Amino acid sequence: MILRRAMPADVSALARVESTRPQAAGWGRSGFESELAQPCAQIWCACEEEKIIGFAALRAAAGNAEVLNVAVLPDCGGKGVGFALLSHALEKLKKSGSWRISLEAAQDNGPALALYRKAGFTPLGRRKDFYGPGRDAVVLGVEI
Ligand SMILES: CC(C)(COP(=O)(O)OP(=O)(O)OC[C@H]1O[C@@H](n2cnc3c(N)ncnc32)[C@H](O)[C@@H]1OP(=O)(O)O)[C@@H](O)C(=O)NCCC(=O)NCCS
Repeated sequence: MILRRAMPADVSALARVESTRPQAAGWGRSGFESELAQPCAQIWCACEEEKIIGFAALRAAAGNAEVLNVAVLPDCGGKGVGFALLSHALEKLKKSGSWRISLEAAQDNGPALALYRKAGFTPLGRRKDFYGPGRDAVVLGVEI
């Protein structure tokens, strides 16, 4: 598996991976396109034989970063791809100083919450009904 920064030519493949996962942010092609144009965006992708099988999208500026969108193809889930992506993104950030990183995940998204916990994130709070009635967001953070 290779981990590399995503490029504009990757937007279709990124959107394809995202479309397999309803829990992802739902950016679609245009969302990835506009995100990649942001100077503070860092989108990492995991590739197997040149095929994108997962991605982690962050924004980072002035010591604060946010993980905005993460997904791994269902066929490739549970094999360490998500953790590799997130660890790699955090390691790269760390090389440029200290960062306070946050993210939100649905309270019922067990796999994502477990992934973030494994990556060192701890709960900071909740946003009530963030994903609709009765579905809170758990806000998690880590300092590196
Ligand atoms: C969340 C997601 C990115 C995890 O990717 P992944 O490659 O399957 O994760 P990994 O194999 O690296 O697993 C890392 C940890 O996550 C947890 N995890 C992964 N899949 C899990 C599952 N199906 N059930 C419970 N925990 C799970 C485990 O703690 C695992 O560590 P372990 O293997 O040491 O037990 C993936 O499930 C996904 O794409 N989900 C849909 C999109 C999504 O929810 N995005 C996040 C929105 S906030």
